[in-house]
Amino acid sequence: MSLDHPVNDLSHVVAADRAHVWHHLSQHKQYETVDPRVFVEGKGMRLWDTNGREYLDGVSGGVWTVNVGYGRTSIADAVRDQLVKLNYYAGAAGTVPGALFAQRLIEKMPGMTRVYYSNSGSEANEKVYKMVRQIAARHHGGKKWKILYRDRDYHGTTIGTLATSGQDQRAMQYGPYPDGFVRVPHCLEYRAQWDVENYGERAADAIEEVILREGPDTVGAIVLEPVTAGGGVITPPEGYWQRVQEICRKYNVLLHIDEVVCGLGRTGTWFGYQHYGIQPDFVTMAKGVASGYAAISCTVTSERVFEMFKDDASDPMGYFRDISTFGGCTAGPVAALENMRIIEDEGLLDNTIAMGERVLANLRALQDKHAVIGNVRGKGLFCGAELVADRATKEPLDEKRVQAVVADCLAQGVIIGATNRSLPGLNNTLCLSPALIATESDIDRITDAIDGALTRVMA
Ligand SMILES: Cc1ncc(COP(=O)(O)O)c(C=O)c1O
Repeated sequence: MSLDHPVNDLSHVVAADRAHVWHHLSQHKQYETVDPRVFVEGKGMRLWDTNGREYLDGVSGGVWTVNVGYGRTSIADAVRDQLVKLNYYAGAAGTVPGALFAQRLIEKMPGMTRVYYSNSGSEANEKVYKMVRQIAARHHGGKKWKILYRDRDYHGTTIGTLATSGQDQRAMQYGPYPDGFVRVPHCLEYRAQWDVENYGERAADAIEEVILREGPDTVGAIVLEPVTAGGGVITPPEGYWQRVQEICRKYNVLLHIDEVVCGLGRTGTWFGYQHYGIQPDFVTMAKGVASGYAAISCTVTSERVFEMFKDDASDPMGYFRDISTFGGCTAGPVAALENMRIIEDEGLLDNTIAMGERVLANLRALQDKHAVIGNVRGKGLFCGAELVADRATKEPLDEKRVQAVVADCLAQGVIIGATNRSLPGLNNTLCLSPALIATESDIDRITDAIDGALTRVMA
C-alpha cells in the first residue's frame, strides 16, 4: 500500500458498482461472492484501487490505451481550457483543435492527407467499410464491394466490424452478419499453415488466392492489423507486407491498416505499418491517440480516396453522407495534440524501442527457464509469450492455467493480459503492453512477476 494514498472508505462505491455496473467482457456471477475491482487513481505506470492497493500496470489501462501513462496534468489542463472555450460543434464545421491535430497527424503520415473524426476504433473502421461500399457503388458499377479480413485479427465490436472478426469467439452468438466480408488466412509462422522457406510471401499469397476465388472485380478492400493484437500478438513474417502491397496494387484492392492498437507509438514508430515501407489507402486509429484522456478515433485516407467523394458536386448522393455526433467533441483532438507533444518531447518512441527490446530479451531468458513458453513475439512495447503444454507438439496450454498466470501476477501487484475468449483453443498468449514511459525497473518487475507466476502455476 502506498503511504501517499491513504485509504478512504470507498465501500459505498464498490457497492454501487456491484449493484449497477455491467462490466465489459465479464461474467457477473463471480461478483455475487467477490467484489469487483474499482480503480481510484493512476500516476505514471501505477494504479490504486478502492482498498488503496498499488498495481504496476503492464497493459496500459487493460487494452493498450494509456500510452503516455496516468496523471498527465498537461493533458487535463489543455482539455479543461478547451472545454471552457468551446466544447463541441458538429463535424460539418471545423474546430481549432480538430484542424490543428489533423495537420500534425498528417505530418507524421506521408502519403495520407485527410482525417475523419469519430469516437471509437470500431466506428473508425466502420467508416472505412462504408467508404469502400460507396466507392463500389459510385466508381465500380456496384462491383468491388467485398472486404477481406484476416483470421485472428479484430476490428471492433459493432455488428459491421464483427463481420470482419478473425476471432470466432468474439463474433459467436451475435450473428447473423452482413454479406460481403471474406476471411483470409493468418500469418503466424509459429502456427504454420505451409511448409515453405519464404513463409511471409506464402502467407501473403494466400490473400491473392482468396481474391482470385472471389473474383478480383468483387473485392474492394482488405483490412489488416499491422501487428495482430488480441489475436495473439502476431508480428508479420519477413516479406509479408511487401507482397500484400503488391497484391493490392495488382488487383486494385484498397489497403486498410487498422492501427487502433499500434497507432501513436506502441511499436516504436508513429504507426505500425511504417516499419514495413508500405503505403496504405486507409489508416484507422483510436486507443493511443489521446491515451484515454478523451474519446477520439480517426479514419485517415489518401487524397486519391478523398477525391472519389468530391468528383461530382452535382450528384446529391455523391459525397460521404456520414456523421459521428461525438466526432465533433474538441476534447479528443486537444488531448491528442498534447499526447503527441509528450511523445515527441520525452523521446518516447526511442524509449519504446529500447524498452521493447528489454521485454523481449527478458521473455526469451524466461523461455530458457520455463518449457511452457513456446514462442516469444513482439515489436516495441507490444509483446506476447505463447504458452504451450508441450513444446514439441505446440499443444496450447489450457486457458484456465493461462488465466492462473495472469491472476498470480495480479496477486503480486502486476497487471498483465492474455488472449481471452478470442480464438477457440488458442487463448494461450500472455500480452504485455506497458506505457511508453516504462523504465528498465518497470519492465524487470513485470517479467519477474511472470517468472514467479509460471513457477507456481506450472509446479
Ligand atoms: C485492432 C483493433 N481494432 C479495433 C478495435 C475496436 O476499438 P474500440 O473498442 O475503440 O471500438 C480494437 C479494440 O480492442 C482493436 O484491438
